[in-house]
Formats: sequence, structure tokens, C-alpha cells
Amino acid sequence: MDLQKRIEELKKKRNAVILVHNYQLPEVQDIGDFVGDSLGLSIEASKTAADVIVFCGVYFMAETAKILSPHKTVLIPDASSGCPMADMITAEQLRELKAKHPKAKVMCYVNTSAEVKAECDYCCTSANAERMLTEAFSDDDEIIFVPDKYLALYAANRTGRKVIFWHGYCKSHLKILPEHIHQQKELHPKALVMAHPECLSAVTQMADAVLSTSGMLEYVKRFDAKEFIVGTEVGMLHSLRKANPGKKFYPASDIAICPNMKKITLEKVIRSLEEMRDEVVLSEEIISKAHKSIFRMINIGKSSDVASTEAKI
Ligand code: 13P
Ligand code: SF4
Repeated sequence: MDLQKRIEELKKKRNAVILVHNYQLPEVQDIGDFVGDSLGLSIEASKTAADVIVFCGVYFMAETAKILSPHKTVLIPDASSGCPMADMITAEQLRELKAKHPKAKVMCYVNTSAEVKAECDYCCTSANAERMLTEAFSDDDEIIFVPDKYLALYAANRTGRKVIFWHGYCKSHLKILPEHIHQQKELHPKALVMAHPECLSAVTQMADAVLSTSGMLEYVKRFDAKEFIVGTEVGMLHSLRKANPGKKFYPASDIAICPNMKKITLEKVIRSLEEMRDEVVLSEEIISKAHKSIFRMINIGKSSDVASTEAKI
């Protein structure tokens, strides 16, 4: 039987909703009830009336859905889809860092485990990091911001806030080098350059706009330009091309691939719904502590992408 048809049947049977990140394989994006960035997916997870959430993304994203919908069953079709950046800091390491800076307030990027979120005051995503730094903290605050060094430096630079950062990074985004942007600009001189804030500072400095994945979709829709160089994981090209058939998109680097995001297939989504696996399980204590940091973000953060886009253009 046609795989999409089988997924539709199983979704009805389980009263399930399928949430998909923008970096997933094209065929997985195409079966999503909601396709988006980490912030959009977190908000969607908190609103859905379904009994079951099938999360096609990496593990911390599925955990975030569970934290926001603790009474729902959250399934991830491949539980080995981790985020190497999220794994670069453990709760123990964060406790040690906090002990060195006892007065500091702590903000974590959403790309962290539930245990790390449970140690934080605020969570943020790439879409709202600047807004969170501006609105959640004052100039006098000591701010720990983990784990992505490049996002922390970018947001600190834009807001003037001083942050204590961690040396985490995304291997896939660091594959995009300034020379790749130069090459693409030579090939496509009219194209605007979009870069994700996880990229090297030398790359974000060359971009016309620095945006989360959904921020890129909004940006392309809002402006008349017809060609764009895309400085993020290559899965984003499918979302952008699908939503904008009249525009052209060029990857800044076609080796910027997140292998973990490519582990989920339609067959695994079917297996997940048939066998109700793999379920994301978190303790009540972790859920309740981690929820506070995410809830504060959803209340304050929403999306500041449009504002940062306008500031750079
Ligand atoms: P977005 O929140 O921009 O979708 O990014 C998530 C991510 O993992 C980027 O590497
Ligand atoms: Fe993690 Fe990078 Fe993959 Fe995003 S692209 S999920 S930050 S490894």
C-alpha cells in the first residue's frame, strides 16, 4: 500500500499529529501536519488536541514536545536521532558552571537535553534568542548562555548583553565557510544571503539576514528578491522551494548535512504509529523543572525574526 495512505490511516486510528522539522527528508516534510522550526514546533506541541504526537526531528525536540504536553504520548520514529550540539553539555557540567557563577541567571538554547533545561531559568530558540536576551535580562545581569557559542556570541553582539558562553557548536553548520559564501555570491550576484545563527561568526557577518529556519521562510515571502543563498542545513531547501516555486535557492554548501535529521523515513513513521514506539519518557520532576524555562520563553519570546530581518536590510 502507498506509504502516505497508510500513514493517514494510522494517524486517524491513533488520533495522532505529525510534527516535522524543516531539516527532515523531503518526503517526511510532505506528510507533516506542521512543518517548522524549534519555536514553531514547541508552540504547536503545546496546542495540539491529538492524543499522540509523532515527532520527526531530533531527540531534544521530541523531549520539548513531551515537556509541553506531558499527558500525551510522544513518539520519535528513530530514538537514535540525537543532536551532537545538545550532547555537548550535560546537567552536571552546567551545575559546575553555575557553581562558578552563583549570581548568574541561566538561559539555554532549546538544543539541550531535558535535564539541562531543568537547570535553567529561561530557554530560547534561534528565532528568539535576541529578544530573550533583551527582555528577560537587564544590563546588570550575569548571564550564562549554553551550549552554542556562535548563537550566544551573535545574540550578545546584537543586543549588547554580556554572556558567559559554552564551547558548543553544530558540526553541520560549521561546514559552511566564508569562502563558500564568496563562491555562491560570484555565481549568483543578485542573490540575497540568509544564514542561520549557528554558523561561524565570519559567515553570519557576510549575510543579508541571520534567521531561524522558519524566519528564512518568512523573509523570502516578505521580500521581492528572486534568488537566495541558503546558509543552513540542506533540508531547508525543500521547505523553501515548495513554498516559493517562482524563486531560486542555492545551498551555501551542499555538505552542510545533519545526519541525525536524515534518520527518519516514512517506513519508520509507520512503524512508530503501528507499534507506538519509541516513546519519549521523562520523570515528573524533570518535566516540571524544564517546563518553567520553556514556558517563560513561550510567554516572552514568540518570534523576533521579522524585527531582526528589518534591522539588517
Ligand atoms: P531552528 O530552530 O532554526 O529550526 O534550528 C534548529 C536547529 O537544530 C538548527 O540546527
Ligand atoms: Fe543539532 Fe546541528 Fe543537527 Fe541542528 S543541524 S539538530 S544543531 S546537529
